[in-house]
Amino acid sequence: MKVLVTGAAGMLGDAVVRRLAADHAVVGIDLPDGDLADAGAAVRLVAAAAPDWVVHCAAWTDVDGAETRRDEAMAANAGATANLARLCRERDAGLTYISTDYVFDGSAGHGGWDEDDPRAPLNHYGLTKARGEETVAALPGPWQIVRTSWLFGDGRVNFVKTVRRLLAERETLQVVDDQAGCPTYAEDLAAVLAFLVSSRRHGIFHGTNAGSCTWHAFAQEIARRCGHDPARVLPCASDAFPRPARRPACSVLRSRRLEEAGCPPRPTWQDAARRYLELLVAGRVRHP
Ligand SMILES: NC(=O)c1ccc[n+]([C@@H]2O[C@H](COP(=O)([O-])OP(=O)(O)OC[C@H]3O[C@@H](n4cnc5c(N)ncnc54)[C@H](OP(=O)(O)O)[C@@H]3O)[C@@H](O)[C@H]2O)c1
Repeated sequence: MKVLVTGAAGMLGDAVVRRLAADHAVVGIDLPDGDLADAGAAVRLVAAAAPDWVVHCAAWTDVDGAETRRDEAMAANAGATANLARLCRERDAGLTYISTDYVFDGSAGHGGWDEDDPRAPLNHYGLTKARGEETVAALPGPWQIVRTSWLFGDGRVNFVKTVRRLLAERETLQVVDDQAGCPTYAEDLAAVLAFLVSSRRHGIFHGTNAGSCTWHAFAQEIARRCGHDPARVLPCASDAFPRPARRPACSVLRSRRLEEAGCPPRPTWQDAARRYLELLVAGRVRHP
């Protein structure tokens, strides 16, 4: 297929372009090519790529910034997605929309969220992404909503890089232990997306690495992998670091639909963190 990947310069989009290129003719675009929230730019970009399928990774991803720049965040996430959905419908192309655990309110037990659980975002970013989901789910043609969480990989900023840097700078660091989720390596999610796009499956899927943890346990694992004593990572409550956007307490995503679809088993988040850290330490990344 001819596949258009949006957000191709971002953490996930870059991994998706590389992964899909093995089986498809891939065109990657990002903000310098045009703002997808601008209907005219979206028409021009989609017409130039003439895709059979669009994997929409582009998004406003600054969760705290979305609280103050609400209209811009809504335009970038819901508006751009509506533009792409309309264009995919017109050309009968498939659309894969990347969404987030933040469409849920965090009240699930540690078993986590099912694909069919109701959306109830706690923050504006979650609301913008939920609006995008609603537009995609109303399409008559082939569509996929793939929710992921706690992404790390070869991007400008990510939790793994930040913890590694802070451990080199300080004796101890405090990390919240009252939020649970599924850390996810962009490369492993790209493999899931390649499976879903090639199989042209329809519906909502949860795509994460296997397993779940708190941010504190994630940071301790990073410390261990970097050769530090994990006891240098101290637990704290979210109240210790008030932020503009509320975060869900439990955003663990259960990947029932992926398993039903026969997706190959996903590596654990610990294995994923190990592989990314090996590349980071060896300097074999775009964004060291
Ligand atoms: N990061 C996470 O932890 C996480 C968790 C759950 C879900 N997700 C979802 O996963 C997807 C990929 O996230 P990511 O972390 O890889 O994002 P990212 O690194 O921030 O990349 C997103 C890319 O989209 C571009 N972009 C933003 N607004 C645009 C617009 N209006 N038109 C065209 N391009 C635009 C950005 O450009 P600029 O950088 O120049 O703005 C950026 O290059 C997103 O849909 C996100 O909502 C992410």
